[in-house]
Amino acid sequence: MIKIRIRFEVQTERMKILVTGGAGFIGSHTVVELFNNGDVPIIIDDFRNSDPFILERLKEITGNTPVFYNLDCLDLKGLEDVFEKEKPEGVVHFAAYKAVGESVEKPVMYYENNIGTLINLLKLVPQHNINYFVFSSSCTVYGDPEVIPVTEQSPIQEASSPYGYTKQVCEKMLQDFCKVNQNIKTVLLRYFNPIGSHPSGLIGELPNGVPNNLVPYVTQTAAGQRDQLTINGGDYNTSDGTCIRDYIHVSDLADAHVKAFAFLQNQISNFHVFNVGTGSGSTVLEVVKAFEKATKVTVKYFIGPRREGDVVSIFADNSKILTELDWRPKFSLEEALLHSWRWQQSLSD
Ligand code: UFG
Repeated sequence: MIKIRIRFEVQTERMKILVTGGAGFIGSHTVVELFNNGDVPIIIDDFRNSDPFILERLKEITGNTPVFYNLDCLDLKGLEDVFEKEKPEGVVHFAAYKAVGESVEKPVMYYENNIGTLINLLKLVPQHNINYFVFSSSCTVYGDPEVIPVTEQSPIQEASSPYGYTKQVCEKMLQDFCKVNQNIKTVLLRYFNPIGSHPSGLIGELPNGVPNNLVPYVTQTAAGQRDQLTINGGDYNTSDGTCIRDYIHVSDLADAHVKAFAFLQNQISNFHVFNVGTGSGSTVLEVVKAFEKATKVTVKYFIGPRREGDVVSIFADNSKILTELDWRPKFSLEEALLHSWRWQQSLSD
């Protein structure tokens, strides 16, 4: 029997892509990966959760000066001017608030910003020949899952914070939008826990005030800015009693956006959802130990009470993104933590 092998060449074109929140943590790393791919990112940001020096650093890393607009995405007219001037083919929407605890304190601010900015974009996208849309979602939509790892089919659970609810609402808005805008191809990326920084240590996360997230707290403690890390609960039903998360290097996460745009260029159907995680979970104590091993710096910690709203354990089933997007995480947990430390040290200099 003669076997005939047919090979489908995947054709992808370089694109001009609007990156809202492009000076932020995940946004800036995505800008780097887009430049590396030969795309032309156009940044919109108002530095409310970033800093202008990030733009200089982007130039240092990539050799390119990104086109930049200082704009609040709630400003519909301002956004429209950018669409008209730049004529992008794709949009990736990061600009949103992301602190779970803050969202409980200021729910209206979260609803207005996270939902309002997406509404503005979805008003403009059909009028400006945008073909591709990538949305920054979160594994928070799965709530406290009964079965782990979670797949994209795992049930969406009632949100435990206004922040989580905004992600669920935005996902639903995009789903409804896609039903009537078949020509606009959309990917929702459900991020697990982004950590690390660009390996150069030139860009990274800039937490506002006392960090809520684990890794910035660990690096600030190691740098002597915080006395000690509080581990939020040591009596969970896990191997060492601390919560389990799927920590993904931010550059790997950023690369998933580039792969999402490439994927969309070869799709007929127009609505797709992917988990972006490593596929394995680590406990809080494992993260602390991995940090100490990678950096040879000791982190002072104590086990405190549980944090309200924490899910015990969540990590990704990432088989869909591995097969359909041809994406793979390149960095280990230790590498990610070493890069976070490099970034922390650059801030302390
Ligand atoms: N933790 C500590 N001490 C700290 C900070 C965190 O022990 O000082 C623990 C948390 O209790 C949790 C783990 O470290 O067990 C990870 O906590 P993070 O705050 O870093 O991350 P979360 O998993 O709570 O939240 C993250 C993002 C959210 C997103 C959510 C989805 O910050 O935006 O994942 O699960 F919605």
